[in-house]
Amino acid sequence: MTKAILPPEDLALSDILPSEPLLLMGAGPVPIPQMVANANGVVINHLGSTMNQVIDRVILMAQYAFQTRSDKIFGISGPSTAAMEMGITNLLWPGRKALVLELGIFSARFRELAEGVGADVISLKSDGLTPTSVEQVREVLEREGDIDLLTIVQGETSCGIRNIWLQEIAAVANQFGVLVVVDAVCTLTTIPLEMDDWGVDCVVTGGQKGLSSIPGVSLIAFSERAWEVVESRKTRCPHWCLDARRALNFWSLKRYHYTAPVPGILAMHEALRLICQETLAVRFKRHHESSRALQAGLEAMGLKLYVPHEYRLNSVIAIEVPTTVDIPKMLQHMISHFHVEISAAFGLSIVRIGQMGEQCRHHNLHKVLYATGMSFLGNGVSVDVANGMSRLEERLAFSRMGKR
Ligand SMILES: Cc1ncc(COP(=O)(O)O)c(C=O)c1O
Repeated sequence: MTKAILPPEDLALSDILPSEPLLLMGAGPVPIPQMVANANGVVINHLGSTMNQVIDRVILMAQYAFQTRSDKIFGISGPSTAAMEMGITNLLWPGRKALVLELGIFSARFRELAEGVGADVISLKSDGLTPTSVEQVREVLEREGDIDLLTIVQGETSCGIRNIWLQEIAAVANQFGVLVVVDAVCTLTTIPLEMDDWGVDCVVTGGQKGLSSIPGVSLIAFSERAWEVVESRKTRCPHWCLDARRALNFWSLKRYHYTAPVPGILAMHEALRLICQETLAVRFKRHHESSRALQAGLEAMGLKLYVPHEYRLNSVIAIEVPTTVDIPKMLQHMISHFHVEISAAFGLSIVRIGQMGEQCRHHNLHKVLYATGMSFLGNGVSVDVANGMSRLEERLAFSRMGKR
């Protein structure tokens, strides 16, 4: 007889988690408001009148966040990538053709997803520091003549670049009758995105970034034009959970699709409610002022920001790190000395500070700037921490007085 498998030695979660929570100032997940955390601790039946009311409110508030009148909005039990996958899987299949604008690893993920469902894929890669131009896109659309769909990321989190020509690119795609799919994972509610007015057909976002909700529940919105394509499909959708027509059962008809991630949807409800209370205009201003003040502080310390000013994303700030610095060691220094966590990058010699949702609060800015400066200093990079702190303070004082 084989030996019975015994339970492992007991280890409480409190013995795993740090005694004092780290301040999450990286590229996501971000800190969440208490109301969102409280909602995440509640389980109710995922079907029935109470949940139906929650779902209707989530859709209504998400319409505001996406700036769309479309009611084809679904929550997804999964990461933002699952939302990207739902968009791609339902709008592309063998015989359809996509143009993918690649700026970094997240925008490139669309290519992998599109290839995965058997679509023809053309990729336009940027030089790594400049977003793809409208002319480049127009040239490919004209040359190919049969593109069905274009994907674009609004903010490329992996390197901190903003696609500043998103609106113009969407307009060109519209002229060619090409569907526009936007990854707004790190940007939604941090900078403007007007789904209807800009002619965007599908927007995906996650919970754990600009929305300041929990990771694991994501959102997607389809325009009416995109929905017609979803409905026109003759073959079976290869994904069961990510089949948008099946998702409609739950999100519109209030019938069973799969057991919905109830606490995550309740958390999303609260996150969206806080966004509606704050209003998008005020939220955009808060993000702009917070990120720009932090950028000014970092530069005043003598640090170099990776992305030129005109393409720089406010939601994620990339800071150049001399190649002599051991980045994991420096980030660990920051955690152990200051209880602040920021992100490394994927192969680039940069570190990234998030400016999404709750990260954009004055008290967090002081803490992250000081911790960053001291950790660079502690790892052999000469920076003027005091100068940076005073520049931050000056910029925040200007904001409080209504100056830029
Ligand atoms: C722009 C962007 N797109 C997609 C993703 C993928 O999100 P997730 O890890 O939630 O699947 C991320 C994650 O950082 C992102 O920043």
